[in-house]
Amino acid sequence: MKASIDFKRQGDKQNSAFFEEWLGRLLEDRDRQGLTENIGRIDALMITVEPGHSAAYVHELCLMTPYNYLVTLETDQHSTHILRIDMNAPDVLVREVKDPNLHGIFRSLNEVYPVGAKRPNSRYMGEVFQVKNLHEVREVQKNREVRFFNQEQVRHLELPGNMAIVKPSPYTHNIVGYWERPDDDIRVYSLGVSSIRDDMQVAFEQAKVLREQLGLEQLLLPIDHLATRVYSQNRELAILEYLTLSSYYYWGSYDIPDQNSSTNVTKSVHYENVLNSPAKVFTAANHPYFCNHLIGQPSPTEAFVRNFGPRLHHIAVGVQDGHTHDQINIDYVVDALRNCGQKFLLQVIGSEQEGLKQIFSSASEHSSLIIEYVQRFGGFQGFFTKENVADLTAAAGADETLRSLDAEARA
Ligand SMILES: [Fe+2]
Repeated sequence: MKASIDFKRQGDKQNSAFFEEWLGRLLEDRDRQGLTENIGRIDALMITVEPGHSAAYVHELCLMTPYNYLVTLETDQHSTHILRIDMNAPDVLVREVKDPNLHGIFRSLNEVYPVGAKRPNSRYMGEVFQVKNLHEVREVQKNREVRFFNQEQVRHLELPGNMAIVKPSPYTHNIVGYWERPDDDIRVYSLGVSSIRDDMQVAFEQAKVLREQLGLEQLLLPIDHLATRVYSQNRELAILEYLTLSSYYYWGSYDIPDQNSSTNVTKSVHYENVLNSPAKVFTAANHPYFCNHLIGQPSPTEAFVRNFGPRLHHIAVGVQDGHTHDQINIDYVVDALRNCGQKFLLQVIGSEQEGLKQIFSSASEHSSLIIEYVQRFGGFQGFFTKENVADLTAAAGADETLRSLDAEARA
């Protein structure tokens, strides 16, 4: 197996000497301890929503992405709805808190942030990795000072009992889970009582009919990347921590000076195609907020983190390369969804010549997450062009400013 440090580096952003030293040391240690080999793909994502929101969110996801509703797992305090494309792409677990007064660790992560607190149960929780030997991963990671929820805590939190779950990261506030699953086995979550819920099935079927009528079924691909926003001072630490917890490698970082920001990409060492295990992207401002008055530039990334807390910002869904009728596929997809009332934060940006076109939807009122669509042309491997990222970041920032003002007005 290729060493995790040996992947070609992309990007133009300079890292500190600390980062470069510890990147090498941590990846070499991870390879040597067998973790890189043991930890496989991202096998599932977990998202929580407010009480009463999951049917609408299942409808939204099943219209805007290729996901299908499979089953609901009921526990005392939560309903967990399983969405799946197939066994080559991660499942999405939409978890609804039943009691609006329930207070738990994931809610606490929202509550100290002025806009995040307005929807205290809406957040992306984290991802679960498929591993070959769960006992070994847990023991090796414990020796590397990674902290796990114990079994009693996993039970209390009503998370699947067949997972080992790392406590929320101080840098991203996301969790990472591990579970053992041979490649030929189907995914089975040890959680509560399973049933196919009528309300979810109706929401899903309506979305799927619409998805087919609009001709989106053949155009939408699985998740391309997951983009997390962190405080400026945590950029390098968030990357290094994620590489410690996963079997991903450091792809590289691009500086976006216009938006006082950078985009930093990590990818699976096992899957060249991100559709099999999404890339994890970290975005951070280049300067902390208190420098902004001296720089005189916008700082949408730092503003987002101050308003919402460190968290996942968007899920990017791939769009099949090609044309539908006389339109480029991504333009066709966006027009079709716009005609159904879906809002987007800007026009589709980028071009075939640059290698990719992208757009952000407006944030979901159920999960606070944005869906990005990304179409790559002719096998382009990049994640963005600098102009695209600057435009996307600016559009999201303008929207968040409006939402934070709105939240203040309602406070
Ligand atoms: Fe993105």
